[in-house]
Amino acid sequence: MDLIDGNKIATDIIAELKADIAALKGRKPCLALVRVGEDPASVSYVKKKEKTAAEIGLESRVILPPVTITQDELFLLIDKLNADPTVDGILVQSPLPKHINEVAVFHRVSARKDVDGFNTVNLGKVAQEDETGFVACTPAGIMELLARSGVDLAGKHVVVLGRSLIVGKPVALLALQKRAGANGTVTICHSGTANLPLLTRQADVLIAAIGRPDFVKADMVKPGAVVIDVGINRIADPSKKTGYRLTGDVDFAAVSPLCSKITPVPGGVGPMTVAMLMKNTLKAYRLSNC
Ligand code: GUN
Repeated sequence: MDLIDGNKIATDIIAELKADIAALKGRKPCLALVRVGEDPASVSYVKKKEKTAAEIGLESRVILPPVTITQDELFLLIDKLNADPTVDGILVQSPLPKHINEVAVFHRVSARKDVDGFNTVNLGKVAQEDETGFVACTPAGIMELLARSGVDLAGKHVVVLGRSLIVGKPVALLALQKRAGANGTVTICHSGTANLPLLTRQADVLIAAIGRPDFVKADMVKPGAVVIDVGINRIADPSKKTGYRLTGDVDFAAVSPLCSKITPVPGGVGPMTVAMLMKNTLKAYRLSNC
């Protein structure tokens, strides 16, 4: 079994981006990060994005509106960022408070600055195989991990567990695209799927993105499969300094001996997401400067 080292691959990409940014003349790319409220995972994700941006010479602007902000006020804030020529990329951290329609907010972000790839236009471009758009960071990171680990999806059966807008649907569309590295045969499973283990056992490549800790067990995996674990579940653990430990959607101890390749949690898909966000921000900068 080979461990797919997301930290190493993300570090390589970050180094490539740092060199690309150092070579830019004039203004550096700028990413606006909007976080509403104090969701602990969001606080730590936004900090990580800010830190990585600084590391590679990318400017970031963190905006922290109060949790009581109305949807219309948030729209106004996004409109200002959309119109600001010194802002290249805009990310509104999810989850948003319940009184705000998240999809409407994602769509309010200009398609040209939508480095999250959640805007309707960019999701549509993934379906159309139009490479001028932005691909959401987690699915883009999964495809990059596979490519840089030598996994070609052509002729393979890819089973995606989960149908979210952020991971399941876009990664299924990417794996299906008619291009080098992709061209897979894709099945999407979800909470309503009957005989789930029967389907997951057919996967040459299994992508688990359902947000249920240790859900994928050994009897759900074909020997020799490649397993990509997208889950980041926080389990209370008083013995840890943080008070929790992270576990994926895959029962790693049981499943890993069976696999040809597997991503760990943490240290698999997670670090790739931030690297792809930086890559998208550089792409947005180049779009606005040409
Ligand atoms: N929350 C969890 N993952 C993400 C992400 O990729 N983008 C945003 N905006 N929020 C998230």
